[in-house]
Amino acid sequence: MTDTVWQEATSTAAVTEPELYHAPRSTIDPDRSKSWLGRALPILRAHRGIWITSLVLSFLGLVFQVQIPDLLNHAIDNSIVPGIEHTHAVPLHIYVWWLLGLGIAGGVSGYVSRLFLFQTAYEIEFDLRNILYEHMAHMSFPFYDRVQTGQLISRANSDIRSVQMYMTFAPMILVQCSIAVVAFGYMLSINVPLSFVAMITMPFVFLVGHRMRKGMFPVSWLIQARLADVATIVDENVNGVRVVRSFAAEQNQLRLLAKAATRVQWGYIKDADLRARWTPAVQNLPQVGLALVLGFGGYLVIHHHVGVGGILAFNAYLLMLQAPFMMLGMIIMMGQRAAASAERIYEILDEKPTIVDAPDAVDLVAPRGDVRFEHVRFAYGEGSGEVLSDFDLHLRPGETVALVGRTGAGKSTVARLMARFYDVTDGRVLVDGHDVRHVRLQSLRTAVGVVLDEAFLFSMSIRDNIAFARPDADLADVQGAALSAGADEFIRGLPQGYDTVVGERGYTLSGGQRQRVALARTLLVNPPILVLDDATSAVDVQVEQQIHDALRLLMRGRTTLIVAHRLSTISLADRVVLLEKGRIVADGSHSQLLESVPLYAEVLAQAESDETAFGQATD
Ligand SMILES: Nc1ncnc2c1ncn2[C@@H]1O[C@H](COP(=O)(O)OP(=O)(O)O)[C@@H](O)[C@H]1O
Ligand SMILES: [Mg+2]
Repeated sequence: MTDTVWQEATSTAAVTEPELYHAPRSTIDPDRSKSWLGRALPILRAHRGIWITSLVLSFLGLVFQVQIPDLLNHAIDNSIVPGIEHTHAVPLHIYVWWLLGLGIAGGVSGYVSRLFLFQTAYEIEFDLRNILYEHMAHMSFPFYDRVQTGQLISRANSDIRSVQMYMTFAPMILVQCSIAVVAFGYMLSINVPLSFVAMITMPFVFLVGHRMRKGMFPVSWLIQARLADVATIVDENVNGVRVVRSFAAEQNQLRLLAKAATRVQWGYIKDADLRARWTPAVQNLPQVGLALVLGFGGYLVIHHHVGVGGILAFNAYLLMLQAPFMMLGMIIMMGQRAAASAERIYEILDEKPTIVDAPDAVDLVAPRGDVRFEHVRFAYGEGSGEVLSDFDLHLRPGETVALVGRTGAGKSTVARLMARFYDVTDGRVLVDGHDVRHVRLQSLRTAVGVVLDEAFLFSMSIRDNIAFARPDADLADVQGAALSAGADEFIRGLPQGYDTVVGERGYTLSGGQRQRVALARTLLVNPPILVLDDATSAVDVQVEQQIHDALRLLMRGRTTLIVAHRLSTISLADRVVLLEKGRIVADGSHSQLLESVPLYAEVLAQAESDETAFGQATD
């Protein structure tokens, strides 16, 4: 490629649109009454072309392979062995050419069938993973409250793999078993009694193989589980290294790790022991078969019932038969494992998102920002206590309201209900008079910008983090949002400015800096309704002052709910409401509440002493 062409290629690549997400080509059959394989069939069907080609070619390859001992048999008896009357003497080179031809044909079909089989395997894996992740991406908050996502993902990986292996390799093994039938047919055609004598060891091969796997299988599961334990300890010690160090608990942790490692070692030694016992038996049983063929077959040759070539072909067939007998046990085992894995995957897939667009959902068009909670009752789960009971609140368009209450009073819950992260148990939440359950989620969440107290940033540049919801935003807009959030100054001071990569694999920001980036991310969307849930709790007071100046401007004409503890934040609000025991107990200006509601002063004092005690501001 010349330089200019190369440049052209890279520059066009740079301007093309980012690749769109393609939904998986297939799904799992939702009919729960079907067997697990039945439900997975649509995935196989999506790849049936290469899958079936692979199986057919694999069958053909084996057919070619089965011919070879037969050809050798005839070559030896018809062209080589002297002293026998060569009734149909054939020149040896004919056999040599045939053999080469079969070898090449077998090689080609073996290559293509394997290539296609692995391709099918990875496509199935790809589809399963996409189906699962797409499903999880659409699951609602209550689902994530219940499951441990980290565990879910790592378990999903091994489950997907075991299903994939079974779906692709089991048919392959069955093809091999079918070829065993052909091989046995050839054996019968050479000599019937000898065929049965040779087969005497086969049931033993199967049984020994089965016993071996039965012994080793639980051990391999055990090893997997214990390795996961070790991984967890290592992971916690790396992530929690500050806690471990601050309590000088290194020795304890090392002891824990050593204990877990010893348990893994025990598993591996047990595994090696079982392997050492069984492998020689499995490998040497076939020799017994060969000895029988040599003894009985030799007798038949001496008495001219079978040719020398026949005996050689026999041995070759016998070895060909062994593999399927051993693998038959393996697919049974793989099948059990795959069924268990599939059940776990389906368990997730069968769970439907609870918070979805109603069929008659409407879009909010140019929302004015009128928000109303009417007799709202809410509990997180069936059995858990009611967080909000008969909660009423009206936010007029353009108004800024501070929501104050003790820790655990339900302030964040109110914020979450506004963006419909959860559905109310009773009553309703209205935006511009529309029940949020009848508004399309996309339009609701664009209209209601929520900044959470835990500012999660992705492992990408600050610019991309701020432009998260508007990837097309230009740098000036991103900077404008950062400026309003009081983030521009510190971002400029970073090594690569706006291009500094943050998060897990990047530059570490302080809690307050993260909060400001998160704030900028929401401000860039410019939502008509803004919810700030303790969004500046980690920002120190001086910096908060700057943010407030900017926010005061931004809040103009925007309906804003601020969950706040600090007086300075509360002072931004037109009105303060006090939340206690699931309902609003006071509503008015800060000074009114301070004068007439003792609980209000108490809550503020508590919040202030908490902040000094725990040093919440980490900026
Ligand atoms: N995801 C959740 N699942 C179950 N219970 C929750 C969840 N989030 C909060 N809670 C409970 O709901 C109550 C109110 O919590 P929250 O709204 O976070 O209070 P606040 O923000 O006022 O501190 C608390 O008792 C808390 O334990
Ligand atoms: Mg909260």
